[in-house]
Amino acid sequence: MTKRSFKRTLVTSALPYANGPLHLGHLAGVYVPSDIYVRYLRQRGRDVISICGSDEHGVPITLKARHEGTTPQEVVDRYHALNKKAFEDFGITFDIYARTTSPVHYETASEFFTTLYEKGVFVEKTSEQYYDEEAAAFLADRYITGTCPHCGNPCAYGDQCEQCGTSLSPTDLVNPVSTISGSKPVLKETRHWYLPLDRYEAWLKKWILEDHREWKSNVYGQCKSWLDQGLQPRAVSRDLDWGVPVPLEDAQGKVLYVWFDAPIGYISATRELTPDWEKYWKDGDTRMIHFIGKDNIVFHCIIFPAMLKAEGSYILPDNVPANEFLNLENDKISTSRNWAVWLHEYLEDFPGKQDVLRYVLCANAPEAKDNDFTWKDFQNRNNNELVAILGNFVNRAMVLTHKYFSGKVPAVTQLTPADSEVLEQIGAIREGVEQSLENFRFREAVKVAMDLARLGNKYLAETEPWKLIKQDPDRVATILNVALQISASLTLLLDPFLPFSMKKLREMLRFGETSWELTGKPDLLKAGHVIGAASLLFEKIEDEQITAQLDKLMQSRDNNKATDGVAPLKEEISFEDFTRMDLRAGTILEAEKVPKTKKLIRMTVDLGMEQRTIVSGIAEFYDPGELPGKKVTVLANLAPRNIRGIESKGMILLAENPDGSLHFIQPAAEALNGSEIN
Ligand code: MF3
Ligand code: ZN
Repeated sequence: MTKRSFKRTLVTSALPYANGPLHLGHLAGVYVPSDIYVRYLRQRGRDVISICGSDEHGVPITLKARHEGTTPQEVVDRYHALNKKAFEDFGITFDIYARTTSPVHYETASEFFTTLYEKGVFVEKTSEQYYDEEAAAFLADRYITGTCPHCGNPCAYGDQCEQCGTSLSPTDLVNPVSTISGSKPVLKETRHWYLPLDRYEAWLKKWILEDHREWKSNVYGQCKSWLDQGLQPRAVSRDLDWGVPVPLEDAQGKVLYVWFDAPIGYISATRELTPDWEKYWKDGDTRMIHFIGKDNIVFHCIIFPAMLKAEGSYILPDNVPANEFLNLENDKISTSRNWAVWLHEYLEDFPGKQDVLRYVLCANAPEAKDNDFTWKDFQNRNNNELVAILGNFVNRAMVLTHKYFSGKVPAVTQLTPADSEVLEQIGAIREGVEQSLENFRFREAVKVAMDLARLGNKYLAETEPWKLIKQDPDRVATILNVALQISASLTLLLDPFLPFSMKKLREMLRFGETSWELTGKPDLLKAGHVIGAASLLFEKIEDEQITAQLDKLMQSRDNNKATDGVAPLKEEISFEDFTRMDLRAGTILEAEKVPKTKKLIRMTVDLGMEQRTIVSGIAEFYDPGELPGKKVTVLANLAPRNIRGIESKGMILLAENPDGSLHFIQPAAEALNGSEIN
């Protein structure tokens, strides 16, 4: 809980890179929690704005453009539109979804840099950096790859090894290679501006480690470990042609480092949203909250606050409720391996079921540690919680009201102590949800909110109005009144979590209120009020749908491997299995095209002890004239096959490239014909 009271809240959600679609890890880690939080504050009538947008700079975007033969602008235009729509479709209600390529952002980021420059904050340094002589370009971050000095991964990047997670600088790499030309880069002098984080270390230590002990332990712990290691100056510029140009006279070819300009994107987005933006950024009565994933912690807790502090006129974040990562079916979500559930695809497969995903991702959010999303858990939570508890309860309350009272809310005749207790519990549950949300414990919040549906279900199961209707209709009237009041409170309490379904439920109940404070108030639905028709809020998800999702995942992984050039491995075999193959070295003696075929070549192969006729489909890749004398590997004990009327005895081994081209596997020249290969 925050120590003081604020007048307004500024909520930011990490600006996703506009170089790929969003997956459910994004939603679970950042956007579902932030949306729940702002919806809750809005329902309470608080002054709150929710800021997000696309992060459109950085080396990976330029690499993607180069790879696709297009421009960075085209890439970010495409993904900005796709991601903006995905957020809207999932009911993530940002007040603005801006872009870091907008003119107001360029202006804001340049101004910010200039202010720091004029205050003399930066340290200007010339250092040697890798340069690609063929491409005539300095190689920033991911333009350079090489072997990781820590784990030996041959594909580590200039800024990070994705295998062991170590953050690197380009000169750490063994055997560096330029990703532009493939050439070996040389070191060349270049000048950059550095933010001297070391000078802010003492201040950061106090601000975080003493003044913000209430931050989540995963966030606090990561900050502490950075601070304990000691902070180094960080370059805030790069030699690149994509980004916000460094606003200085003699800085051609230099742009602001993406992690310098992106968080300023929160400011520029607010400026774009409202002329009143300064009240959100410069007034100490504003509470700023950053929702992010754990890989963003250092930038939001250390670097950006140091920038803001250095600038001097801005507020600092009051809390940074970062989440850990969500895995998918026990494996790390990975864009490059296509191990992900893409939001736009989810909606194609489960149209109208945004709330189910929101619910599952919140109930299972990776709040304190990495967590796993499984389709089975998705199905279970839908069927056993949303359908069986929440949907079932409101449906029974409404259907019975229609059946016994023609859809009119019956008046209470007399509340039993048990009824009163149930009604009182609504208030307690509401307080519980508030406590959890104020402390960014979203898993707990949704569980407590669902307790109200559990309570309702239990109430109907215990009072059994369907058994009393004959002998005691007055009692049934009271029971259904209570059940309907609970339903109305549910629409308020669950709205931040399940906005689509609660809107539907409000329409069904013909209940127009959304104010949080009404939760638990008596008579939300007045006696005599006519409710609308009941339809199902949630439907069961069948096993087949789950199997289909699992199949789709496995398949996309396999396909992806093939297009990467690496076919998936076949299943393991024993050494005995291997020895059943008789592999021999041989030499092609004669070769001729098989008439009337496109691909086949008939060869005579010398295997030392005998000569064989072998037919092979290589005519698209080898000319018969070049074959005599070539060494080849032959599978000698393959059962003879009849190919176009020719008996082919054995098979010549070939490597197949992803483009389908075939290439001989050749024994070294010294291997004698007929020698065994094992
Ligand atoms: N684009 C970054 C990421 O996806 C997040 C940027 S957050 C901001 O990791 F603060 F820099 F905007
Ligand atoms: Zn490594």
